[in-house]
Amino acid sequence: MLWVKALHIFFVMSWMAGVFYLPRIFVNLAMEHDIATRERLLLMARKLYRFMSILSGPAVLLGVWLAWLQYGPAVAKAHWLHAKFAVVVLLIGYHHACGSLLAKFENGANKRSHKWFRVFNEVPVFMLLAVLILVVVKPF
Ligand code: HEM
Repeated sequence: MLWVKALHIFFVMSWMAGVFYLPRIFVNLAMEHDIATRERLLLMARKLYRFMSILSGPAVLLGVWLAWLQYGPAVAKAHWLHAKFAVVVLLIGYHHACGSLLAKFENGANKRSHKWFRVFNEVPVFMLLAVLILVVVKPF
């Protein structure tokens, strides 16, 4: 079980690195007018989004496996895990929102300002904090 937990944490950390960095690229894209620089930023964003999408799968699947290994059918009583799962669903939603925003940049259809993306960039910080408090403290 500890091997599964170690791999879970590895994939979660790698996924979160992308979730934190991609909106930062969006901040720069929203400010950038030079075509060559925009093309380079778009290439970085495209590759990072593909990388994040690959990592998110094992991160979640290993978590589900871990939950089953630790609780089995009693998982229904692990209320901290239900709350964690709800935050993870929001994180997956945020991940897909990044995909739609990237598509808008690709089509030259982004209307949002760099200030909006700076605020957007902070959202996963609070979601990660909530997940860590739930999984380490298990408040309920
Ligand atoms: C459906 C998705 C997920 C499920 C079912 C899940 C489930 C679990 C379970 C059962 C544990 C073991 C808890 C323990 O041994 O005390 C765990 C550990 C952990 N999970 Fe997840 N997890 C999921 C997604 C995530 C995500 C998205 C993150 C971070 C953003 C995350 C961060 C962690 C961390 C840091 C630990 C280690 C905690 C410790 O060792 O005390 N998990 N997860």
